[in-house]
Amino acid sequence: MNNKVVVFETDNDSVELIKTYIAEFEQLELDNTFSDYREGTFYALKNHPHIVIISANEGIAPLKKTINLLADNKINVIILSENYTTNFVIQALRAGAKDYISKPIIKKDFFASLKKCSQDVVKTINKSNIISIFSNKGGIGKTAIATNLAVEFARQTREKVVLVDLNLPLGDVTTFINIKPSISIASAIETAAHKGPESVLNACKQYKDTSLYVLAEPIYMEETHTMTPTHIFKLFEYLRESFSYILVDVGTSIDKMNMKILELSDLILLVSIVNLPLIRNCQRCLDLFNNLGFDDNKTKIVINRYLENDEIKIEDVEKVLNQKIYWKIPNNYFAIMSSINKAMPVSEINANSNVTLSFSGLATKLTEDIIAKDFVEL
Ligand SMILES: Nc1ncnc2c1ncn2[C@@H]1O[C@H](COP(=O)(O)OP(=O)(O)OP(=O)(O)O)[C@@H](O)[C@H]1O
Ligand SMILES: [Mg+2]
Repeated sequence: MNNKVVVFETDNDSVELIKTYIAEFEQLELDNTFSDYREGTFYALKNHPHIVIISANEGIAPLKKTINLLADNKINVIILSENYTTNFVIQALRAGAKDYISKPIIKKDFFASLKKCSQDVVKTINKSNIISIFSNKGGIGKTAIATNLAVEFARQTREKVVLVDLNLPLGDVTTFINIKPSISIASAIETAAHKGPESVLNACKQYKDTSLYVLAEPIYMEETHTMTPTHIFKLFEYLRESFSYILVDVGTSIDKMNMKILELSDLILLVSIVNLPLIRNCQRCLDLFNNLGFDDNKTKIVINRYLENDEIKIEDVEKVLNQKIYWKIPNNYFAIMSSINKAMPVSEINANSNVTLSFSGLATKLTEDIIAKDFVEL
């Protein structure tokens, strides 16, 4: 049986064109069209089509609730519009739309969008983004940030997110999130080389019933010694096929493996704390990244355990680093410790704590910046 498509569009010519295109597309059939989107929404919620195409001639604001409602009901929403701005796209995707196409409709774009929404695993953004959380000093909050950020990415975007523990050989993601690692990452990659990426994807464990998956540290520490930069390259290649966001908890040493991870990343969150030796270290990392030829925009500085009344002011830190601080996460030992003690993300322990809100704000800012960047690169 073909999947159904419902269209909300006032312009008859567009409706006719959409009808013709859908008739040519296998696996999909037009179910109904509406000129009033309220009527259409009511129909869609009752009949559950696979895709709803909405023409947003009046902008996105009046449609936000509709898109949100349809997306919550697992209906793929495609937005059609004549006038795009970056802000328009961000708002549409944030409301829950799966894709957007411009008017007049070009057949190739329309088919690509239908195809994207016909797959089980939908990647809304144009490419996967690898975000590495790094610091060359231990114990400053990399894992706390990586795990809580991954949870927020999955919650906010509803897309497939994977958190990869590459803090080898002693990863610690499972201290923050209760997941049982299955097999060694290295052997999963070896198997994938002969039999396809399933072995790697099967090693990614789903967190509760969310769209977050975790590739945890191997059980046997010695197995990680077999990992090479080539393994990393392959691993990312396999993960990019299935996940929109790949978050990596990276180790502290400046070695071949970690540099490969950072080189292959789209974004690096360089984590520091406001204290002089660590800020100096941060400066050294920035110099190193510069020497390695990384793009200036690739590295974002995140200050963890931030205190409002610290002796050293953020402006001073920015002056020393010659770079704006991207985000500050407040110091909240109690919230982080109870999250570790229960192996649960902070949002599940206290949804309103300052650190929960900060992780949520960081995820929002990052997704908006990523969507804006992808949009510019289109
Ligand atoms: N925002 C925060 N407020 C208060 N304490 C924090 C915060 N973030 C982290 N911590 C504390 O710092 C400790 C280290 O955090 P975490 O394990 O995330 O660091 P890490 O950089 O991953 O360390 P490692 O290098 O050992 O992997 C935590 O056990 C917690 O006590
Ligand atoms: Mg850690």
